[in-house]
Amino acid sequence: MQGILDKEAQAELLRRGFSRRSFGRIATLLGAGAALPFYNEPALAQLSMVRNLPPDAVKINANENPLGPSAVAADAIREIVASGGRYMYEKTFDLAETLAEQEGLKFSWNQKESYVAIFAGSSDPLHRTVLAYCDKDKPFVVADPGYEAGGRAAEFIGAKTIKVPLRKSDYAHDVKAMAAASPTAGVIYLCNPNNPTGTVTPQADIEWLVANKPKGSIILLDEAYIHFAEKTQKNAQFVAQDKEVIVLRTFSKLYGMAGLRAGAALGRPDLLQPIYKYGAGAMPLTAMVGANVSLKEKGLIEKRRAFMTGVRAETFSFLAKNNIEFIPSDANMFMMNVKRPGKQFYAAMAKQNVYVGRVWPAMPEWVRVSVGTPDEMSKFQTACLKCYEA
Ligand SMILES: Cc1ncc(COP(=O)(O)O)c(C=O)c1O
Repeated sequence: MQGILDKEAQAELLRRGFSRRSFGRIATLLGAGAALPFYNEPALAQLSMVRNLPPDAVKINANENPLGPSAVAADAIREIVASGGRYMYEKTFDLAETLAEQEGLKFSWNQKESYVAIFAGSSDPLHRTVLAYCDKDKPFVVADPGYEAGGRAAEFIGAKTIKVPLRKSDYAHDVKAMAAASPTAGVIYLCNPNNPTGTVTPQADIEWLVANKPKGSIILLDEAYIHFAEKTQKNAQFVAQDKEVIVLRTFSKLYGMAGLRAGAALGRPDLLQPIYKYGAGAMPLTAMVGANVSLKEKGLIEKRRAFMTGVRAETFSFLAKNNIEFIPSDANMFMMNVKRPGKQFYAAMAKQNVYVGRVWPAMPEWVRVSVGTPDEMSKFQTACLKCYEA
């Protein structure tokens, strides 16, 4: 059976941290004649679309933060560059310690005891959690529309992805349906606020899911956009309570460090152990320092949240005034109904030098738009009036 993995596929698996011993199992999962899937292919295809954009392009297609790192973080980053010849692992631990302190979690230099694991962004621990806890008998459960990265990791190891539609009434996760999706679910992924809708799931529902999930499954709570939200709360307390919950955080969104790369997984040490083995190496020093300083900056979250919320409210008034349907969001993105194939709309917007998107198959006539600066959103409005056809 192992024979269906050719030399190239075997080398790729070794590179990704799989042992030779696991080849037989992976070959079985893939089945005769199947190709080894590469889970970042769709992401790369998407990225290739934004290559060579004009310098004045309005990029509101990736939920980035146009403000970049805070001024204080940028200064700290500049200062540490001179030390960039060193690994300085201690800066990674410094960041873990600050985050642990703020979240009421135990930090330890010893991986086997620490509730905080630092990564270069949150995509990495998201993928690792799926690789570690899902397999062909343990599916990955995700909302639809939802963030697709976990599904790609599941596909890579031959695990099934079960998509559970968001609730029609409020675009919250349908936690009862998610819990019932599979009695052997490996990971149930709940993104709060959700990407792409920016909608939140009521706290009582999240608590219900943690209490009623299938035995043995992990709740992966992705809080990438939590700092922007006003209608929901952080949920690291589940981790402090030793529940089977892993919380993901990133510095790519409110903290404006997407290109610098810092993120974290919060979880019981024994739950984090299996995810360490899927990678190795030091973290980017600049990001570790910038993230640590950002966490300590008083008032930064509130200031940035208020800024984004103000621009978003202005954008929503524009949409309402022009009778364009949108989903009220609690994050730095929203979905609008363009009443034609979403791809046509964002291609037309691109011609106006405004890059929006993407589209999710579950809502083909809706396009996700990220909230940019006032200037960017004013250009969005101008382009939208030209491209939206009622
Ligand atoms: C819900 C969600 N989780 C995780 C990520 C990954 O971000 P990063 O790897 O930059 O932390 C993103 C990025 O857009 C996201 O939307």
